[in-house]
Order: sequence, then C-alpha cells, then structure tokens
Amino acid sequence: MPQLVIASNNAHKISEISQLLEGIELLSLKDIGFTADIPEPFHTFEENALAKASAIYQFCGKNVFADDSGICVHALGGAPGVDSAHYSGERDDEKNLQKVLTGLKDAQDRRAFYKAVICLMWDGEVYYFEGICEGKITEEKRGEGGFGYDPIFIPDGYEQTFAELPLSEKNKISHRGKAVMKMVEYLSPALSEGEGEVE
Ligand code: IMP
Repeated sequence: MPQLVIASNNAHKISEISQLLEGIELLSLKDIGFTADIPEPFHTFEENALAKASAIYQFCGKNVFADDSGICVHALGGAPGVDSAHYSGERDDEKNLQKVLTGLKDAQDRRAFYKAVICLMWDGEVYYFEGICEGKITEEKRGEGGFGYDPIFIPDGYEQTFAELPLSEKNKISHRGKAVMKMVEYLSPALSEGEGEVE
C-alpha cells in the first residue's frame, strides 16, 4: 500500500482526514520520528501548508501532505484567518472562540467561512487542493463534537453547529473534507489496486 505522511500533530485533523483516505497507509509525524514543532510563519494558508509539507519532506524524503486551515469572519475583516490556532494569543480553543464571540457582540453580519489548503508533495511534485465551507457564527457555543471553532459555526443549509453534527456529516461538507476529497481524486489512480506503488 502506498504511504503518505500527514504533516500535522493535530489529533482532530488527523482523525477527520484518516476517515477519508482509503487504500493508503497514513503515517503520522510520530511514525516517522519527527518530534519538533513545525513553524508556520507566513500570512497565507498556501505558504504555511507548503512550509509544513517541505519541512517534513526534507526530514524523511517521503510523500507528504500538510493542511493549513482556519476560520475567516467577515465582520472581523477576515480574522482570525491564518491566526486561527492562536487568535487569543494562546493555542487555546476556548479562549480563541470566546474572542470571536466577543468581537461579534451585537454584530448583525455573522457570516464566516472555514478554509483549508492542502499542500501535497507527491513524487517530487507540489500540488495544492483547497476547500471552503461557508456559514455563520452563533451567539453562543453549542455541541460537544469537533474542535476549534466548531461549537460556534453553523454551515450554510444546516441548523446545527459543526460540534453538533456527526463527523461523517461534517466531513461531507467541511473545508477540510472538500480539500481532502480533491486530493483523493487526484491520487486515485495511484491508490487503485496494483497501480503506482510508492515507497
Ligand atoms: P493550523 O494548524 O495552523 O492549520 O490551525 C488550524 C486552526 O484553525 C485550528 O487550530 C482551529 O482553531 C481552526 N480550524 C481549522 N479547521 C477547523 C475545523 O474544522 N474546526 C474547527 N476549527 C478549525
């Protein structure tokens, strides 16, 4: 089975993505013995995804992909965006989402979208896959599932937050689900039985 390294330490992301990848052996950073933090110094999802994928490719030389993602809130000028993971100044989901709720206090326009960019380094080539999920920010937290901003995000066409929807439903419509499905479509010839075996 072909192998693919996922350049992330985020257990939630890994669990969402692994449900969408079949016919491939997904290797974690732990599996390849990478223990350092991967810097994400840039101001676009694309640059950060490339930085993460390149760091891991240089470390292990294997096919690898990285996801960089975040939530962009219209009334906050697109923030938190690439700073989603540490919007409050700390890598703390609760503090981050509370900062968004505070920033939107009394706001009429509660539109937001999640964006994910995957950078795939496969057989020496670099590919990007993007997914966007439009929706709105609630007045208060709802639901126990998901992670990050999921308790305050309702995708368009739904009444429930991402934290209230089953993961299988979130994966069908989420930014990450869409980006991963595009990558799967691209890789499908290599993932079909007997084809494109990659070390
Ligand atoms: P990254 O590791 O720099 O890509 O940070 C992604 C951050 O964006 C996460 O830590 C969350 O705060 C937020 N985020 C991205 N995708 C999701 C999602 O599907 N649900 C909730 N929060 C998300």
